[in-house]
Amino acid sequence: MRIALSLSLSTTLLATLAMSSSAAAQIPPGESPALGFERTQQFEIEGGGISLLDLRKAGLKMFSTPFNKLDGYGDGPVDFVDPTGFGHRPTLQNNGTFLRVNGLDAQTCMECHSVGSNATAPFTFAIGGAGGSNNNAIFMPRNIDVSDQLGVGHASFDGRYINPPFLFGSGGVELLAKEMTQELQTQKARAAAHPDVVINLVARDVHFGTLVYDSKLRDFDYSGVEGVDHDLVVKPFGRKGELSSVRAFDIDAMQFHFGMQPVEVVGQDVDDDGDGVTNEILVGELSALHIFNTNLERPTQDPLNQTAKDGFRDFLDVGCATCHKPFLNTRGTTLNYTFPEVATDPTQNVFYASDLSQGPASFPVNGQGGLQVPLFADLKRHDMGPGLAEDFGNELDSEFTTARLWGIADTAPYLHDGRATTLTEAIMLHGGEAEFARDNFAALPDANKVQLLTFLRTLRTPVDPASDLL
Ligand code: HEC
Ligand code: HEC
Repeated sequence: MRIALSLSLSTTLLATLAMSSSAAAQIPPGESPALGFERTQQFEIEGGGISLLDLRKAGLKMFSTPFNKLDGYGDGPVDFVDPTGFGHRPTLQNNGTFLRVNGLDAQTCMECHSVGSNATAPFTFAIGGAGGSNNNAIFMPRNIDVSDQLGVGHASFDGRYINPPFLFGSGGVELLAKEMTQELQTQKARAAAHPDVVINLVARDVHFGTLVYDSKLRDFDYSGVEGVDHDLVVKPFGRKGELSSVRAFDIDAMQFHFGMQPVEVVGQDVDDDGDGVTNEILVGELSALHIFNTNLERPTQDPLNQTAKDGFRDFLDVGCATCHKPFLNTRGTTLNYTFPEVATDPTQNVFYASDLSQGPASFPVNGQGGLQVPLFADLKRHDMGPGLAEDFGNELDSEFTTARLWGIADTAPYLHDGRATTLTEAIMLHGGEAEFARDNFAALPDANKVQLLTFLRTLRTPVDPASDLL
């Protein structure tokens, strides 16, 4: 049978063709679900029957497949009660246009996560890399003033405009965060057991303020907690530090960018977005994606010459390391994968484990049975002042998780929205809790500034990550 394709051929017809088994054999590539019919199932992973290499390959497939409508791409009919909620946004489904605003902004993860280094021209490509300004996600803008009607001297917008970070080394970050969460939860239990005693919240050498159980109120007093949500779950993912694991982030990414609905969100055989496709992303497929993301190579550091060594001293002296801690140690080397995830107790429901001292991530071991994660951050949220604040109409939000500086030589543009094109700009835009460090940097003699920048330029992204999967 020949299939005459024309632009007027409806999605429904394509869906019909893809499902009729006699036609399926003859459908040209691209006209059937892009994921194909071989799907990774959770029970196969739990059974231990799939090697790490094959799981990473299955994850790369999820990361790099350009989903189409036959896979379930896009959202269904608008829900006027929750018109910006995943599955019900009035965007692509109306006329087929990529509006780019509030998601439905790409077909594959790779479109935004593929810059290995832009310290060279042309930039180098890398699986799991950062994104340029053109890859920014645009979230909930209500007012965009392109002609400066407000008279503030520049075009302006509200909502969020977010530049994609890379995913390299994310396994080490997730392991650290999970261990720190366990420490904070233990301290919370101690506070509960000792009413009215002020307990210091400290995980590794990062201080998260204090917690006390108030016996009169019969509740915790969270007013002393700093840089972490009241659930005391350390959340390193997302520029604002909103998600505790890569899996949790991936679940949102699938829905936000593509309208692809994970079974673990909407349920087995449930067509929540009403697009005629069920089981769009299987539990096993998200597990593979999570395992792939968190086993990506970690960023590296070039050997330090004398100038860079002096610059590192300046970095410490001016106070950058109060937030950008050069490294944090983990207790163990194994990242556990859990399903369903329980953020407050990352030891529950383990189905797979990966030793991050081995394999592509190969973090250095620290001599106490753990890993050294050279991330240049504290996994804590800080107030960066009004200049960097995101504008949500009637409220400004200036809190961000400390950017991890590993790989920074290769990842311009900088800051959450990519507004800084050089490291100097990025540093000079620090405000709020970081204002003192910015002022110290600004006051350095030029030679010391150059040293410090030379040091930052030794922090590199990995070369050819995941290339063993191709
Ligand atoms: C349109 C561009 C775009 C696409 C497509 C995209 N991302 Fe992202 N990604 C971003 C942006 C922007 C951020 C930062 C978001 C934030 O800070 O809240 C991000 C952040 C992340 C993070 C958190 C990284 C960190 O260290 O904080 C993960 C994990 C991630 N993306 C995975 C994915 C996966 C998996 C897919 C495909 C399902 C995907 N992304 C598709 C733009 C994109
Ligand atoms: C109070 C904590 C704090 C201090 C002190 C601090 N920073 Fe930052 N830094 C942050 C946070 C939070 C961000 C992310 C801000 C954003 O995304 O808008 C950041 C972002 C950056 C970035 C951009 C990273 C990227 O990937 O976009 C650079 C470069 C940087 N800091 C360097 C420095 C240097 C150098 C110093 C010392 C002069 C310093 N910072 C001091 C918290 C701090």
